[in-house]
Amino acid sequence: MMIGKRMEQALNEQIKHELESAYLYLGMVAYFQAEGLDGMAGWMEVQAQEEIAHAMRFFRYINERGGRVELKALAQPQKEWASPLEAFRAAYEHERFITGKINDLLKIAEEEDDNAAEIMLQWFVTEQVEEESSTKRVVDLLARVGDSGHGLIMVDRELGTRRAEAAGAEGRSA
Ligand code: FEO
Repeated sequence: MMIGKRMEQALNEQIKHELESAYLYLGMVAYFQAEGLDGMAGWMEVQAQEEIAHAMRFFRYINERGGRVELKALAQPQKEWASPLEAFRAAYEHERFITGKINDLLKIAEEEDDNAAEIMLQWFVTEQVEEESSTKRVVDLLARVGDSGHGLIMVDRELGTRRAEAAGAEGRSA
């Protein structure tokens, strides 16, 4: 069954939201790099890559269903944050915003009796639980560390391991 116009439009909007997520997180990569926090920069770079993968899931889905992908203009992301904690707080809030968008899409799928879209969106429901939980975990870590320079370095080092894991996973699947 070919995709309905309403669903097609909503999914095209979601491609934009996912690419804007990547853009926002790349802005954070640049901020962390400027602050000398390479571990956090690496963590956010992996996050940005995941967002591009999310966008591509919607991109391919629209195409598979006989729809037409339409790319929108992206908003310029924020450039500075008051602290690493504030940056991760913004990332967490952004993920909550995205979860809301996924829930909106599910509502549209229900209203349009689009079972295929509903099933495709289930993956994102699970993914958003993970996205909120992983960013919230860092927010909580940074909140606990407070103004301790030593603590910040420890968190930076721990977050840096995510990039190594992601690189290892890429190596395995290649
Ligand atoms: Fe694509 Fe982080 O949600």
